Amino acid sequence: MELAHILESQQFAADLDGLDDFYRLAIDMEHIFESGGDPSILKGAHAVNLFSQPSTRTHASFRWAQYYLGVNIAFDSENAKDFSSESKGEVPRHTVRVHSQYCHDPRKIVIVLRHGNFKAMQEFAQYSPGAHIINAGCGKSDGQHVTQTLGDVLTIRRERPGLKRPVIAMVGDLRNGRTVRSLSYLAPRVFPETKIIFASPITLAMMPDIKEYLSRHGFVYEETFEPKDFPEVLRQADVVYMTRIQREDLAGSDLDRFEEYQLAFQLNAGNLDGIKETGLIMHPLPSNKELAPEVDDDPRAVYLTSQLHNNLLVRMAGLHTLLKPHC
Ligand code: ASP
Ligand code: CP
Repeated sequence: MELAHILESQQFAADLDGLDDFYRLAIDMEHIFESGGDPSILKGAHAVNLFSQPSTRTHASFRWAQYYLGVNIAFDSENAKDFSSESKGEVPRHTVRVHSQYCHDPRKIVIVLRHGNFKAMQEFAQYSPGAHIINAGCGKSDGQHVTQTLGDVLTIRRERPGLKRPVIAMVGDLRNGRTVRSLSYLAPRVFPETKIIFASPITLAMMPDIKEYLSRHGFVYEETFEPKDFPEVLRQADVVYMTRIQREDLAGSDLDRFEEYQLAFQLNAGNLDGIKETGLIMHPLPSNKELAPEVDDDPRAVYLTSQLHNNLLVRMAGLHTLLKPHC
């Protein structure tokens, strides 16, 4: 698959053969991971990791991926919003050109970007003089987290290879979650005849643009806002994709109801038994009260195991896809 940037799920949804190639590459990366890495693979390539919002997994896994493939980390900021000139109002079209200027060949650079503003990410890509941009989680209710979704879909495929017509329940804060937005674009393309069930408090419902996309393409989805329906959602689901209520994005009465919202669609010992034996429990993490501690050790829960591993592999594959042609 030839790509200049990795920005949104639609790039992969539009090229399913390319996606299969990408996943073959990700699985090849497992050998490199298991052997402890091979620094010759992307020798001569450079990474600029710009994180303007908090991150544990995405930042760490990209750094590990860079280590395993021998990418030089030229610049790394975990708080770019405060400690880079973004805090002084520097515009994305300048930032991308500045970071690109320090290498004789900007095509050897990848900028791994986490940003609160999706348009800022688009500007990085638009004004880049050759450096490759990877969306490491950008925007919120208009945003996407495409590398998360690539890893999530790979996880479903590897964990449940025979799954046909899966019912995927997306649960929690669907309005502010960028992971579920990216997943909604890709999953119905990869899994034909899938049904998506959105389960959330009504004020945190999936945004209209995603529902319009699903309807326009004839993909099936249902919505529920009633906690009393949650057991039935769990009963139907092949994949239960839980998400955190994003406190930082709530205001007014939603903020007052933060605690209530977390518990309204909580997974716990009382309802876990309702999930199919073959069901898969996923979460992009971090989690709060929507996951009771006992869920962590359920054999169907993969958010602390293969979901993390596959996310690392797709990040290695992403770096390889963008940088290898120039190294
Ligand atoms: N870590 C994911 C993201 O950055 C999900 C979350 O923060 O709840 O989008
Ligand atoms: N899943 C995810 O993006 O986690 P972080 O926010 O910790 O990177």
